[in-house]
Amino acid sequence: MASRYTVPGMDEAAAEQVRETLQHRLTSLLDLQLTLKHVHWNVVGPTFIGVHEMLDPQVDAVRLMTDNIAERIATMGGQPIGTPGHVAKTRGWDDYSLLRATTIEHLAALDIVYSGVITDHRAAIADFDELDLVSQDIVIAQTEQLEMFQWFVRAHLEDASGRLRHGGAATEQAAADAVG
Ligand SMILES: [Fe+2]
Repeated sequence: MASRYTVPGMDEAAAEQVRETLQHRLTSLLDLQLTLKHVHWNVVGPTFIGVHEMLDPQVDAVRLMTDNIAERIATMGGQPIGTPGHVAKTRGWDDYSLLRATTIEHLAALDIVYSGVITDHRAAIADFDELDLVSQDIVIAQTEQLEMFQWFVRAHLEDASGRLRHGGAATEQAAADAVG
């Protein structure tokens, strides 16, 4: 990704590293906002309306996060890539695996999804420590929100002792199976 300028006070090599990491976060958040809508449409069961309506503010917030990251890339002289083909080609995970399923199955699967995004957001925060505190600040603020959204999801799956019903499941399908 060739660039003609970046923000003042940052050398091009550092800027390129930051832009690359930001592009990965953009890809991840674009995937997440589509996945959240997909779940919004496909949840079924007696607690449908609560989960269906809980997800739209998350979609809106994550969509705003994509805008902030993409515009930071452009601000730093880069080219944010937001096309569906690029997302599908460069992401390191498969499509969300559930179609129509109960609210509790989707929430267990979504917990896995959020864990993936948050883990990578936290890795970006660590990367930016030496590279760019301004980008780091953006990603920190997003991580706080993402972690709160994951708590909203987890609160449905938690028992009175604080254990998650799908604890230990590593994949969306395994998490859904554990609670189904
Ligand atoms: Fe809707």
